[in-house]
Amino acid sequence: MELFQVLGNSLWACLLQASTTLHGILPYSVRERLLSALGIVTYVSLIPSAPPGFPSSGNGLWYTTPGTVWVQEFLPIGNGYLGAMLPGGTSQEVTQLNIESLWSGGPFQDPSYNGGNHLPSQQSKIASKMQNIREAIFASPTGTIDNIDEIMTPGDTYGSAGHLVATLDSTGAVSKYARWLDLDEAVSRTTWSDGSTTFLRESFCSHPLQACVQYLNSTTSHVLPVVTYAYTVAGIDGLPAPNVTCLDDRTLSIRNYVSIPGMLYEILAQAQAPGGLVSCSAVSGASPPNATLTVLGASEVWISWVGGTNYDMTAGNAAAKYSFQGPDPHNNLVALLSSANRTSYAEILDGHIKDYTSLVTPFSLSLGQTPDLDAPTDQILAGYRTSVGDAYLEWVLFNYGRYLLASSARGTLPANLQGVWADGYSNPWGADYRKHLASIEKVILISKPDSNINIQMNYWAAELSNLDVTQSLFDYIENTWGPRGAYTAQVLYNISEGFVTHGEMNIFGHTGMKLGGNSAQWANYPESNAWMMIHAWDHFDHTNDVKWWKTQGWPLVKSVASFHLEKLIEDLHFNDSTLVTAPCNSPEQVPITLGCAHAQQLIWQLFNTIENGFEAAGDTDVAFLDAVISKRQQMDKGLRIGRWGQLQEWKVDMDKPDDTHRHLSHLIGLYPGYAIASYSPELQGGLIVNGTFTRYTKEQILNAAQTSLFHRGIGRGPDADAGWEKVWRAAAWAQLANETEFYKELTHTIERNFAPNLFSMYESDGIFQIDANLGYPAAVLNALLHAPDIANINVPLQVTLLPALPLAWSTGEIKGARIRGGITLDFAWHDGTLTTATFTVDHNVAGRERDVIVNYDGQVVAQFRSHGGYSQTVSSF
Ligand SMILES: *[C@@H]1O[C@H](CO)[C@@H](O)[C@H](O)[C@H]1NC(C)=O
Ligand SMILES: *[C@@H]1O[C@H](CO)[C@@H](O)[C@H](O)[C@H]1NC(C)=O
Ligand SMILES: *[C@@H]1O[C@H](CO)[C@@H](O)[C@H](O)[C@H]1NC(C)=O
Ligand SMILES: *[C@@H]1O[C@H](CO)[C@@H](O)[C@H](O)[C@H]1NC(C)=O
Ligand SMILES: *[C@@H]1O[C@H](CO)[C@@H](O)[C@H](O)[C@H]1NC(C)=O
Ligand SMILES: *[C@@H]1O[C@H](CO)[C@@H](O)[C@H](O)[C@H]1NC(C)=O
Ligand SMILES: *[C@@H]1O[C@H](CO)[C@@H](O)[C@H](O)[C@H]1NC(C)=O
Ligand SMILES: *[C@@H]1O[C@H](CO)[C@@H](O)[C@H](O)[C@H]1NC(C)=O
Repeated sequence: MELFQVLGNSLWACLLQASTTLHGILPYSVRERLLSALGIVTYVSLIPSAPPGFPSSGNGLWYTTPGTVWVQEFLPIGNGYLGAMLPGGTSQEVTQLNIESLWSGGPFQDPSYNGGNHLPSQQSKIASKMQNIREAIFASPTGTIDNIDEIMTPGDTYGSAGHLVATLDSTGAVSKYARWLDLDEAVSRTTWSDGSTTFLRESFCSHPLQACVQYLNSTTSHVLPVVTYAYTVAGIDGLPAPNVTCLDDRTLSIRNYVSIPGMLYEILAQAQAPGGLVSCSAVSGASPPNATLTVLGASEVWISWVGGTNYDMTAGNAAAKYSFQGPDPHNNLVALLSSANRTSYAEILDGHIKDYTSLVTPFSLSLGQTPDLDAPTDQILAGYRTSVGDAYLEWVLFNYGRYLLASSARGTLPANLQGVWADGYSNPWGADYRKHLASIEKVILISKPDSNINIQMNYWAAELSNLDVTQSLFDYIENTWGPRGAYTAQVLYNISEGFVTHGEMNIFGHTGMKLGGNSAQWANYPESNAWMMIHAWDHFDHTNDVKWWKTQGWPLVKSVASFHLEKLIEDLHFNDSTLVTAPCNSPEQVPITLGCAHAQQLIWQLFNTIENGFEAAGDTDVAFLDAVISKRQQMDKGLRIGRWGQLQEWKVDMDKPDDTHRHLSHLIGLYPGYAIASYSPELQGGLIVNGTFTRYTKEQILNAAQTSLFHRGIGRGPDADAGWEKVWRAAAWAQLANETEFYKELTHTIERNFAPNLFSMYESDGIFQIDANLGYPAAVLNALLHAPDIANINVPLQVTLLPALPLAWSTGEIKGARIRGGITLDFAWHDGTLTTATFTVDHNVAGRERDVIVNYDGQVVAQFRSHGGYSQTVSSF
């Protein structure tokens, strides 16, 4: 993602909710400063204990002070369509909103926008340049060249953000303050007392209603003070103040263009106060128009807001002239608001809780944790240490990762680099990076939602932890990558089949290979589509949803495979008759070369998917299947052991033992892929090394992978100190069944990268990148359960239980894990020993039955054929 695309995805405006019975409306921070200047300590209770209503299991985050720093302290809520960040204010609450599709740039701002592609007239020139580049790589003594600028295209710029704030005032000093995020219910709450009155504010975003709701009542007073709601845009560069008007007596309309020309957005916010009186009044003389809502005489009040834009993902094709433009969102928002209109708040809340629990509870994990209800989350984190760990916090983070994915992925667009939460208020992506990050390399790296690890990592845990949230991901690929990616395939690669994308994507079909500060190490990544197809296959392999596979999964996979089928070329550098990619970059590494291990492993896996999914798709294109199988046979498999025992990152043996680069690109087949983890000497072995025919054993390949992983360091190299690189390393160590290294990495990222609100920071100085949060549950699961894919579904699936169990999790349980073949797995362990495991096969597996071998502690403990409805419990080991 471009730097400013991140900002563009956010909408920050100010919703001011104030009790006018109070003297003066001071922002929270100002009042706190005043009070502390007067020596009055607020909010800190002497013996903290979790607030009443906090889950007794400890499943949540809680604090004894309001948040002041967005990125580290505010708490996120969301339903995919909308996101919001909550500081947990008392008299003044600042609620920051995002709308998933609110981006600046693209065709809305620039009618000539074409996804960063060349013009059709340039095609033949590009094709001959591509040919020259390939010849130069093959002829180069080192197998590398310096740049491929001539086939890249200039970048686009994007920008804009706003912020939304909510405020409530109450008189007097605040005591008994607490705020928390309940992860059982997906509700954020703040409670405080003001004299004899105790207030409660609840906020959540309902997925079924596509609305967010904020509710307020008090336990001791029957009638609340007067409450007002208003909206304002703070000084965000480039975002004009919207029109804020009264849609009706209790509804604000907030509406504007991101820029002129630009995308149109609207938010409708409606207050409800049974028994009270709501009115809306325009601020006279305001330009642009401004308005506020006032609530009188209510014992409870809530405001529901819906939001949308005129972006339409399905208008990203030639027929729609790649406009991505849909209708004015207004009518749809009015309809949504009306369906969210309930006389009973309890009904709205119950509906939300039921929806969320039905989404997440089919799966559960216990790490034998003991909840610490006496220390707030920020204190627990502050005391947390690498390798020492704390099963309770590790468990909360697991549930939080699933919460964040569930709350950001269920809209029409997938979870992006910040889920659905982006801060335009302090602009960490726009302003702070200059302050914090010295090198341009880092700036570029963090500013994109890259399809070379980040968007994939967001979804690592989805299938295994049975979270049904991937539909928007596949819709996004189909609608925004497919159509213009087919054009890119043609114009850049002279390939008429399939589609291609590169390292950086947006919501406007940016498929070109981007020139500029964004050099080939980031942009030259035409395997982004191949990596995403692992997710398509995994979705089918876990669900056996044949209808989905036929209509969406297979067409995507086939299209991507068709592209790579044509793109592979004969290796004229080593002249070993293999097929390779060239020019290629190992993601974010400099050498431009041939036969990058990452690309070769991914394409090999992609071709296996074609063979494994062909029949279920009902495809009859046997010529295509044969072509795939034949080129798969001939292609370089991307697995070579180099001069210092490493698994080579490139076909040319040029890895440096001290390269601690953040990416583990050449270990993709270890995790999350399987080209290394399920290595088969028969299928992948057999290559010429230094003129000698060689067939590595699986042990050799795994040892080489371990050597590479070890030399890659702990994810704190000079290039980056990010959360995601440590989570990836943790998962990779777990795959090697090395619990010591696994737990060290996992705990190290918690200590090093996680902020008090448990958001993962790119660096310890505060740039939020959600991939580590969302990848974390997958890393945890990889220590408890392996069921990696295999080259051929006719080969038994190897399930390994507790492959890398750390001592700290010696007792625990998993219920409802999903493994390949449509199998649900429940298992438990005690004192470090497996006690029981139950496998239950879905009923809809006809034609896709497979052999399953269950391993534990170096032994095969069960073996079965996965017939529909079959169930087996193993309890002696
Ligand atoms: C582009 O591909 C077509 C079809 O394979 C081929 O005939 C043509 O020579 C290619 N163009 C160039 C410039 O390589
Ligand atoms: C305030 O709202 C909460 C949450 O919906 C509810 O449990 C509580 O009973 C309400 N309090 C009063 C006094 O109505
Ligand atoms: C609209 O009114 C609110 C509340 O008085 C104020 O905070 C906000 O700044 C106003 N908006 C503009 C654009 O002046
Ligand atoms: C905002 O209001 C002005 C009139 O005050 C109107 O001309 C303009 O079209 C409105 N903008 C939108 C986006 O509705
Ligand atoms: C919401 O419901 C109330 C009571 O059921 C009704 O009076 C009101 O007109 C409805 N408002 C909208 C916008 O549908
Ligand atoms: C590989 O083959 C090409 C074409 O036959 C030839 O030009 C080149 O010199 C060969 N390279 C090596 C290293 O033998
Ligand atoms: C291949 O041969 C070269 C040159 O003889 C040597 O430097 C290198 O170590 C060899 N590589 C392996 C993996 O044996
Ligand atoms: C785990 O990895 C470390 C570092 O490579 C190594 O020293 C240790 O022997 C490994 N442990 C196991 C059980 O393989």
